[in-house]
Amino acid sequence: MPGVPLLPLLPPDSTPLVIAHRGASATAPENTMPAFEAAWASGCGWTEADVQPTSDNIPVMFHDDDLARTTNGSGAMRRQSAAQMLGLDAGSWFPTGSSRAYHGTPVPLLADVVAALDADRSLLLEIKAEHTREQVLAELGVIKDSGWDHRVFIESFDPQTLQHVRSVEPGRPVGLLVHALHDDPVGVCTELGAVAYNPEHVLLRQCPELVDELHRSGIAVLAWTADHPDDWAFLADLGVDGIITNVPGELMRWLGTSADCSRSA
Ligand code: G3P
Ligand code: CA
Repeated sequence: MPGVPLLPLLPPDSTPLVIAHRGASATAPENTMPAFEAAWASGCGWTEADVQPTSDNIPVMFHDDDLARTTNGSGAMRRQSAAQMLGLDAGSWFPTGSSRAYHGTPVPLLADVVAALDADRSLLLEIKAEHTREQVLAELGVIKDSGWDHRVFIESFDPQTLQHVRSVEPGRPVGLLVHALHDDPVGVCTELGAVAYNPEHVLLRQCPELVDELHRSGIAVLAWTADHPDDWAFLADLGVDGIITNVPGELMRWLGTSADCSRSA
């Protein structure tokens, strides 16, 4: 069964959308501008990214709740001010042939990322972990101010966060990320107003018929995070709408068409 439009103007297509996970995170440090730029430059029109609020409620791109793995800092990310986050080195940890290749790469602001969008660049924005309504409001404000609002599709694991998004912008399409399948995925999406149900890709092995079930209700499926051709074949056969991957270039080559990766709303 064909997929459903991820965004209102995006036509259904039988080829899954390729979405770079945290940018081109196999070739540049995750959730940094070089990673996002590398993904877009490769012809992959979509990148996934994680956003969280600083202690002074400035949205920054960051995955973990602690600074240690991906920066030269330590401690809880959310206890840092924006100024403190901007002073960190988010690139030196990244293993490359030259250890200084990404030395000094900063943590980007959400404002930096949405400012880099254009007619061929879209953002799957994961609002990471729990957020207050005020924190969601700040993020939506940054997106709106960029002028590229229509190029940003929001997803979250946290239903309350999605409810905040929908309360601020009632018409905004959102996606629900899931670590474990719900008994009634269509019902959960309907209740939340979610137009996408985004499972860890292995979950679809338990319930492959779920993709068609969701499609019949007009709900898209974006599977994460699949990096192996066996999984891509399984997901493509199911008809998922998008595959989130750490190796977008390889997936584009495997699909045999980069044109579909840069399709745009
Ligand atoms: O967008 C899906 C995927 O990014 C969720 O997992 O832990 O990589 O944020 P994680
Ligand atoms: Ca993510």
